[in-house]
Amino acid sequence: MLEDLERVLFTEDQIHQRIREVADEISRDYEGRELMLITVLKGAVFFLTHLAHALQVPARLDFLGIASFSPGKALPGVVRISKDVDQDIQGMDVVVVEDIVDTGLTLRYLLNILSGRQPNSLVVCTFLDKATRRLVDIPVKYRCFEIPDRFVVGFGLDFDQRYRTLPCVGILKSQIYQGR
Ligand code: IMP
Repeated sequence: MLEDLERVLFTEDQIHQRIREVADEISRDYEGRELMLITVLKGAVFFLTHLAHALQVPARLDFLGIASFSPGKALPGVVRISKDVDQDIQGMDVVVVEDIVDTGLTLRYLLNILSGRQPNSLVVCTFLDKATRRLVDIPVKYRCFEIPDRFVVGFGLDFDQRYRTLPCVGILKSQIYQGR
């Protein structure tokens, strides 16, 4: 799979170290409180497990599934919840754990729904941030890495459900997805 990468952006060691730093930041901010980590399936699961292990505050976990109705995969489309969280988030300190924020449309939709359920607080923690691609203003409180406007895979991020298991993050060679 590594041969399909144009180049590696972040190595496994760099990723693990940066996640520990973000976990420390979150632990300081939420000292004495209990977190509800809501992870967006499936890409963010790899990030979640490392983040959760490194947290020094207690955390409950829950998961959200998103179905996209984009007319073309390259276009930001309409999304809906395909799997809702199982727990009541009212009064909880919620951190939404995402793999990547691109246009921000998916998160805007999720944050609208989740904020209507009256959590005590609601913030976003993303593994990767393509900030230059943003179409809507999303408050991203924690991010591990900001990346350029290139299609990346690995550490949970996929192309056509492949490459998620790569331990590093890299830019996918364009010939892999061109013509599809
Ligand atoms: P947004 O609604 O445009 O912010 O889209 C976020 C979603 O787009 C992510 O959860 C990913 O599923 C997908 N995505 C955006 N950029 C990439 C990428 O470079 N690699 C893999 N998936 C991506």
